[in-house]
Amino acid sequence: MKILAFETSCDETSVAVVENGKNVLSNVISTQIDIHKEYGGVVPEIASRHHIENIIPVFTEAMKKAECSLKDIDYIAVTNTPGLIGSLLVGLMFAKSLSYANKIPLLPMNHINGHIFSNFIENDIDLPAVSLVVSGGHTNLYYINKIDNKIKITLLGETLDDAVGETYDKIARVLGLSYPGGPEIDRLSKSGEDILKIKKPKVEEYNFSFSGIKTYITNYVNNEKMKGNEISKENIAKSLQEIVSEILGEKVLKVIKNMKVNTILVSGGVSANERLREKFKQISEKENIKVIFPKLEYCTDNAAMIGCAAYYELKNEEMYSKNIEKNYKVDAISTKRE
Ligand code: KG4
Ligand code: ZN
Repeated sequence: MKILAFETSCDETSVAVVENGKNVLSNVISTQIDIHKEYGGVVPEIASRHHIENIIPVFTEAMKKAECSLKDIDYIAVTNTPGLIGSLLVGLMFAKSLSYANKIPLLPMNHINGHIFSNFIENDIDLPAVSLVVSGGHTNLYYINKIDNKIKITLLGETLDDAVGETYDKIARVLGLSYPGGPEIDRLSKSGEDILKIKKPKVEEYNFSFSGIKTYITNYVNNEKMKGNEISKENIAKSLQEIVSEILGEKVLKVIKNMKVNTILVSGGVSANERLREKFKQISEKENIKVIFPKLEYCTDNAAMIGCAAYYELKNEEMYSKNIEKNYKVDAISTKRE
C-alpha cells in the first residue's frame, strides 16, 4: 500500500511517499528556518505564503524521487491538526484537491500521532511501549499496547505549561542565540558545566512543567547582567540540558516501574538532542529495555511520519487516542477508492 503524505503544520513544507508504513520511498522537506530566523521565531503569515510557493515543487520532487505517479497511490494523508491554521490550510487544500480530482481517498491526520509513528519507520516495535513526544509545541507521554491485535494509544501525561522545545527556544532567545534554539543549546552545552543545578519542579503523576525553569534561567541571566557580570552561555546551556534530561528520564522510568514496558520510544524535534539520547541510552542499558529514536530526518517535522501513522491507522480501522478523535471532528474522511 502506497500513501502520499503531506505535512505543512508549521514552517516545514514536506511531502512523502511511504510504502506499507515502513518503507520511505521519498521524504522531501523544504524548511523555512532561514526565513524565520530573522524574526526570532515563526511568523504565521509568512509561513503560509511560503507553503503556497513550495507545495507544488516539493510534491513534484517527492513523486519523482519515489518513481511513481498518482495512479500508484492508494491513499492521501494530510496533517490537519494541530498547527498554524494558515499553514495547515495550504497542505489540506492541496491534498483535498488532489484527492477529489484523482478519486484517491483522503485521510486527515493528527501531527502528534505522526511524531509517535516516526519511531515505527524502518523499525518493528515490540509492544507494549512507553512513548515520549518532545517537540516545539508538545511534551506528551503515552502508553502503547495491543488489544485484540489493535494498537491502543493512551495519553498518560502532558505538559501543564510550556513544551520542552518551546523552553529551549525561549531560553535561547534570552541568551541571544538564533532560532531554533534547541540545536544551538545542544551544541553549546558540550563545552559547559552544570553550574545552576536547577531543582526539579514537583509535578504530579505523569505530567510535566517547564515554565518555572524558563523563568529561573531568565531571572538568573537578567540579575547577572544587572550586576555587570559576564554570563557563560555554555554553562547555562549545560544546566538546562541536565535538568531537562533528568525530568524526562524520571517520568519515563516511572512508567517503566508501574507498567509493563518492552520498548522506550522517543520522538519529536527535541529527540534529536544529544544529551537526551545519551540519557535514554543509559536508562535503556540499566533497565534492559530497548530504546528507539527516529533517524534525524524523522525527528523534526516531516511527511514520512504522517504517511507511516496513516498506514497504522488504516490497519487498525479505528481511532487511536484522544488525538485522533479531534481529527475526525475537523474534516470528513472518505474511505474507499472509487
Ligand atoms: O517536532 P518539531 O520539528 O516541531 C513541532 O512539532 O513543534 O520540533 C521543533 C522543536 C524546536 O523547538 C527545536 O528547538 C527543537 O525541536 N529541537 C531541538 C533540537 N533540534 C530541534 N531541541 C533540543 N535539541 C536539539 N538538538
Ligand atoms: Zn512536530
